[in-house]
Amino acid sequence: MNEYPQFMTDMINTVSLMYDHGWDERNGGNVSLLLHEDEVSPYFDTKKVIREIPIGFAAPALAGEYFLVTGTGKYFKNVKYDPARNMGLFRLSASGDTAELIWGYSDGGRFTSELPAHLMSHTVRRAIDPANRVVMHCHPVNLLAMSFIHPLDEKEFSHTLWQMCTECMVVFPDGVNVLPWMLCGTNEIGEATAEKMKTARLVVWAQHGIYGVGKDLDEAFGLIETAEKAAEIYMKIEGKPWLQTITDDDLRVIAKAFGVKIREGFLD
Ligand code: 13P
Ligand code: ZN
Repeated sequence: MNEYPQFMTDMINTVSLMYDHGWDERNGGNVSLLLHEDEVSPYFDTKKVIREIPIGFAAPALAGEYFLVTGTGKYFKNVKYDPARNMGLFRLSASGDTAELIWGYSDGGRFTSELPAHLMSHTVRRAIDPANRVVMHCHPVNLLAMSFIHPLDEKEFSHTLWQMCTECMVVFPDGVNVLPWMLCGTNEIGEATAEKMKTARLVVWAQHGIYGVGKDLDEAFGLIETAEKAAEIYMKIEGKPWLQTITDDDLRVIAKAFGVKIREGFLD
């Protein structure tokens, strides 16, 4: 590595902030940032592959792309102290089924166990928005708590979050999708997550956490931050009498004023 690239600093700052928000206990959470050859090559020797690591599935649409990805079992709180041990930068092979390690995972480690959900989501979101670069996963307390007591119906879940603060409709007019509890770290949950990513940029994993995507780290972080704040408000007021709320008409007024399109069929 020649000098410290900005994307590395941004990644370190973001995962540190995620830890500070209480979203990433122990090794909880994982983040992947898609990078292009011309962004990576000024800083790293892209001809030198340190290790080849099979990823256990194929993501041919992403072949040749580079990814900066947090390591499995690694603690977000430690990333800033030793980035090369806690993260890795790899190129996806031409066949799309092997990570060609360029930098990092310096203790012999490897990428997050949730790589299927990350790369499959990158594939889906890039087809919708070519600018998408980030997939972010974490375990925010209130969204998790909400997934125990609120119906998991996506329309209802989205509606409740939208009602909790005015900004929600502006930030995620596409609502949230929800997966029932599933075993994590598998291709199966990766495929299910990617399927959900076709219609929303936020996917709740019930009793586990959430996935958010964006064109950069700030956007993915901000999406999750906004949904988590809404869930926090819900958890504070749930079971108490509501004397007033943001009505469906109000939600439509917000969408119109901010020029966003409400998810089709999600507001009666
Ligand atoms: P990793 O340590 O493999 O990234 O797993 C953390 C996690 O959040 C699993 O869902
Ligand atoms: Zn997790």
